[in-house]
Amino acid sequence: MSAPARFVVAVGSGKGGVGKSTVSLNLALALRESGARVGLLDADFYGPDIPLMVNVTRTTPLKSWGFWQRSGQPRLDPLERYGLRLMSVGFLLAENQPLSWPAQMVEFVGRQLVHDVRWGDLEYLIVDLPPGTADLQQQLLALLSLSGALVIVTPQDVAHLDAKKVLAMLADAAVPVLGAVENMSALVCPHCGKEVDVFPRVSESRSIWSAGVTRLGTIPLDPALARAGEDGKPLLISDPSGPQAEAFRSIASAVTRELERRGAA
Ligand SMILES: Nc1ncnc2c1ncn2[C@@H]1O[C@H](COP(=O)(O)OP(=O)(O)O)[C@@H](O)[C@H]1O
Ligand SMILES: [Mg+2]
Repeated sequence: MSAPARFVVAVGSGKGGVGKSTVSLNLALALRESGARVGLLDADFYGPDIPLMVNVTRTTPLKSWGFWQRSGQPRLDPLERYGLRLMSVGFLLAENQPLSWPAQMVEFVGRQLVHDVRWGDLEYLIVDLPPGTADLQQQLLALLSLSGALVIVTPQDVAHLDAKKVLAMLADAAVPVLGAVENMSALVCPHCGKEVDVFPRVSESRSIWSAGVTRLGTIPLDPALARAGEDGKPLLISDPSGPQAEAFRSIASAVTRELERRGAA
């Protein structure tokens, strides 16, 4: 099956709540800003939050949800939002519905979200993965024909320990690791401008950095980012000239550079 984009890039994490969706979304927007055609697939079966983060509900797009009968032809249109082509497992699950599908069903839906959507001619498809390293994540990796993956960590030993499991899973699946982003790094005090370490620093020996993973960028803890998540207006749209928007642009350039360097085209 052909890849849905020139570069398919997954965003993974060992733990939930570390900012995987925030980074996926703003990374996609930063790539889009540079003129590329970009899709964003929210494949987080446990917590598909992208629709909320861009303020779309599933009643909006999918009137012709004849998704279940395979026709052999891609026939589901992604949503367009902020210039991104968007598809989410959240359009399939009701808002309060936990994932209760059998593994086979998950596999089937995952396959459709990747291959039966009319993504069009994309340069980048960013995939927000479910956190962790279970069967579901492994199934998704097998479906995706990934050019590479990035991993999100917070500056906490637990996040790094769990991220190492993701790195091992990626290695098993022969997915190139482009690098990692440290999110929720030191908070810049809005009053005095000093950096505050909300989390204690990660011990060098436990960190993924000492395991040789490239640091693609650092995003501080920033109330504006938390607000953006709730408001359904991503930071790159609400505050395009702020420091965090710049940080996401720099991550996007690092991702592009890594992809080109690896000759994944
Ligand atoms: N750097 C940050 N500063 C402040 N809040 C953040 C930051 N990154 C993420 N958040 C917020 O933290 C919560 C978890 O982030 P999210 O991207 O949903 O994580 P994940 O997808 O890994 O579960 C969200 O409410 C989000 O808005
Ligand atoms: Mg998420």
